[in-house]
Amino acid sequence: MVSFIFVVVLIATPHSVADNIFMPSEFEEELSVIGDNEVEQLLESSNWLSRRKTSVVSVDSFGAVGDGTTDDTQAFLSAWNRACTTHKSVFLVPKGRSYLVKPARFVGPCVDKLIIQINGTIVAPDEPSDWDQKSPNNWLVFSKLNKTIIQGGGVIDGSGSKWWAASCKKNKENAITIDSSSVVVVEDLTIKNSQQIHFQIYRSKTIRVFRVQISAPGDSPNTDGIHIAESTDIVVQNTKIGTGDDCISIVNGSSIIKMKHIYCGPGHGISIGSLGKDNSKEMVTAVVLDTAVLKNTTNGLRIKTWQGGSGYVRSVRFENVRMNEVENPIIIDQFYCDSPDSCQNQTAAVKISQVIYRNITGTTTSEKAIQLACSDTVPCSNIILSNVNLQSKEGTAETYCNSATGSNEGIVNPSADCLDSSNKDSYSDMTTDSNVEDLHAEL
Ligand SMILES: *[C@@H]1O[C@H](CO)[C@@H](O)[C@H](O)[C@H]1NC(C)=O
Ligand SMILES: *[C@@H]1O[C@H](CO)[C@@H](O)[C@H](O)[C@H]1NC(C)=O
Ligand SMILES: *[C@@H]1O[C@H](CO)[C@@H](O)[C@H](O)[C@H]1NC(C)=O
Ligand SMILES: *[C@@H]1O[C@H](CO)[C@@H](O)[C@H](O)[C@H]1NC(C)=O
Ligand SMILES: *[C@@H]1O[C@H](CO)[C@@H](O)[C@H](O)[C@H]1NC(C)=O
Ligand SMILES: *[C@@H]1O[C@H](CO)[C@@H](O)[C@H](O)[C@H]1NC(C)=O
Repeated sequence: MVSFIFVVVLIATPHSVADNIFMPSEFEEELSVIGDNEVEQLLESSNWLSRRKTSVVSVDSFGAVGDGTTDDTQAFLSAWNRACTTHKSVFLVPKGRSYLVKPARFVGPCVDKLIIQINGTIVAPDEPSDWDQKSPNNWLVFSKLNKTIIQGGGVIDGSGSKWWAASCKKNKENAITIDSSSVVVVEDLTIKNSQQIHFQIYRSKTIRVFRVQISAPGDSPNTDGIHIAESTDIVVQNTKIGTGDDCISIVNGSSIIKMKHIYCGPGHGISIGSLGKDNSKEMVTAVVLDTAVLKNTTNGLRIKTWQGGSGYVRSVRFENVRMNEVENPIIIDQFYCDSPDSCQNQTAAVKISQVIYRNITGTTTSEKAIQLACSDTVPCSNIILSNVNLQSKEGTAETYCNSATGSNEGIVNPSADCLDSSNKDSYSDMTTDSNVEDLHAEL
């Protein structure tokens, strides 16, 4: 059993930091996860799997066939109803078989600590036409659970290839969703080839994700790995993700998100955002990524916001990250525009402050190692680069700043003097004259 211990590290006050700059220690407390006692108790009680008088509710007892082609949806739902209403039960998906399940909602609250034991494979119909057009865009939804473990070493297979081919962003399914739940541990699962997002955590609290593997081809569209929305106190640890979109994306209403020991690639990197689309007010606070390898990704550590939004991104720390051939290793993009029409410059923006990049090393495939493209009217503030060393495989690595203030500590390569200065728009190690529009061309 993994138990996650958050160590509070007090950081010495750096001399280079100006008086008005916040101290990183100010938000250590804010960043520490809160529900670990409850998670600990839950994991301890899972030992009753062997000891306690468990009621194993196998989907097979409800008529599931598990041949990969027979529709086992009804058997799963019937088994769920039994397991959910039975004390100390285990909802079992037996190993060695493949169960075809159509979009289904597994809804609680359930009577007592439930274990969802996925040892076999759950597979989605691969023909988009087999899907109920009326269903919302989710395949397997676990909703309103409280104190539940989802485990077993099995596989969730979204069979997404035909959906990718017909790539249209609308009406695609997200493979697995945890919704409106609290104290849920998801461990030792493989999730692959989702039609769209692989694993979504929505409106939930105190969720732990350990040793989950997520994979889809690097060119499969919109197949984010883990997507966190409107959730708090989330830990993702020892997880390997390689897909065609963000490995992890964290969006509106999320706080206290801790990611540790993450391998990401291929994909679009680790993103906060996008936020502020259609002039919305959105916020994300207290995010830590500690110890990660990003390999062959288009972005590394990214914060992206649309112009015209409001709200904020505050208290973020990215540390101990190794980049291996990443196109845009460090990027704040407040001009994000993922629409066919170009986006107008607007004065409102999501405020970005208190972001630390510490001990970030490795290589970039472009020259744009560090890009801090902030709103002219709502500048980024308290951006700290501390021991950053990024080398370009293409030429000279450079730093771009627009409307960003903060400080450098230790060795920062490429140098980022533009952060210390009040220059609105400046390059360090300037070798090209590209403008912000170029910068936003692909992102
Ligand atoms: C979860 O269960 C505990 C009691 O075991 C209860 O105090 C808590 O309110 C429940 N949380 C939710 C979100 O249902
Ligand atoms: C399910 O898998 C786990 C570990 O992967 C194993 O310990 C357990 O015995 C398996 N249970 C069944 C019923 O196959
Ligand atoms: C990088 O990822 C892309 C997209 O998946 C893939 O086509 C390419 O072969 C990968 N390159 C390396 C060096 O792994
Ligand atoms: C952002 O999240 C908050 C908190 O959950 C929610 O109240 C608000 O409606 C969300 N805003 C948008 C634009 O979705
Ligand atoms: C910097 O990060 C790397 C992982 O990328 C880690 O191995 C190393 O120990 C870290 N260095 C310090 C001084 O923390
Ligand atoms: C939008 O603002 C950026 C940053 O100041 C500037 O470089 C760009 O030219 C502006 N674009 C338009 C269309 O005005």
